[in-house]
Amino acid sequence: MAEPGIPDGARVVMVAAYARNRVIGNGGEIPWHISEDFAHFKRVTLGHTLVMGRATYDSIGRPLPGRTTIVVSRQPDWSAGEYADRVLVAHSITEALDLAATQQGDTIIAGGTQTYEQAMPFATHQVLTEIDLEPEGDARYPEFTEHEWRETERIPGPGLEWVWWERQAPPPTIVVSAIAFMRDRQVLTVRKRGTGKFMLVGGKIEAGEAPIDAARREAEEEVGLSPADLEPLGSFVGLAANEPGHLLHSEAYLATVEGEPRIAAEIDEMRWMGLDEADAEARDDLAPLLEHHVLPVLRKRFPS
Ligand SMILES: NC(=O)c1ccc[n+]([C@@H]2O[C@H](COP(=O)([O-])OP(=O)(O)OC[C@H]3O[C@@H](n4cnc5c(N)ncnc54)[C@H](OP(=O)(O)O)[C@@H]3O)[C@@H](O)[C@H]2O)c1
Repeated sequence: MAEPGIPDGARVVMVAAYARNRVIGNGGEIPWHISEDFAHFKRVTLGHTLVMGRATYDSIGRPLPGRTTIVVSRQPDWSAGEYADRVLVAHSITEALDLAATQQGDTIIAGGTQTYEQAMPFATHQVLTEIDLEPEGDARYPEFTEHEWRETERIPGPGLEWVWWERQAPPPTIVVSAIAFMRDRQVLTVRKRGTGKFMLVGGKIEAGEAPIDAARREAEEEVGLSPADLEPLGSFVGLAANEPGHLLHSEAYLATVEGEPRIAAEIDEMRWMGLDEADAEARDDLAPLLEHHVLPVLRKRFPS
């Protein structure tokens, strides 16, 4: 049977199976077992990046093969234990979406209720299995405004229908603002103790935070600069990169550094790096947020 696939791209796809009464779960488990739907879930999600709530991850108990897994948890030190090296952790939905955008394939929102509810405003597609049952349950799929969505495909299966939805209007843009440190067209990078890779110094500007405060905070956390050392910090250039078709809007603020910063004890080495070198250094890494958002903006602004 021909089935519409999900091509790669920056799409946020909700994938869920829900009953006539919108139930998706009961006591932490899915209240039905339909092997055809498991096979469908696998086909739709293979090669993509799953974002799931900690409760859903616990009910599965391991990362699913062939997919990148991001778990959202509010617990600052939550880890996937023996699978920690294969499971990425985010502490908010937007952090999970930012991170997923740096990973392979589409972003698949894999549940459960809390995660579906919070991710719905960012979703571009839904791939829903309508289960022809009315089971008891304590977890439901959220209501969505049907006129904002267009049904693009409906395929009947055993006691179910698979339905594809596409959002009619574009979803809101997520703005990611980050700070980086620059001097003579070179960015400041450090190699942390015991690691072999250099990373950009800087980080995300939190909501409501001024770029100068973010610069101080990041520099203090990462290179051990005190606010006094930062006084020669010069201009902040706000650079916008809004590639058409991208959900994420990245902004980079550059703090211009004069002089040579002192480095913190946990840093083995500090280096000013040209953009090409920094890009190559970042590419085979896990593509962290900063490298993903800041470098493309800088390269656009300062083409080599
Ligand atoms: N039928 C289906 O297609 C389907 C698919 C998936 C799941 N399910 C079912 O759904 C049920 C679970 O759903 P659920 O709503 O209880 O749980 P969930 O969304 O899987 O996970 C909830 C947890 O996610 C974390 N979380 C939620 N919002 C967050 C935020 N804004 N920032 C950081 N962390 C956040 C919290 O983890 P911490 O407590 O660690 O902070 C929270 O306890 C189960 O019954 C499961 O079987 C069904």
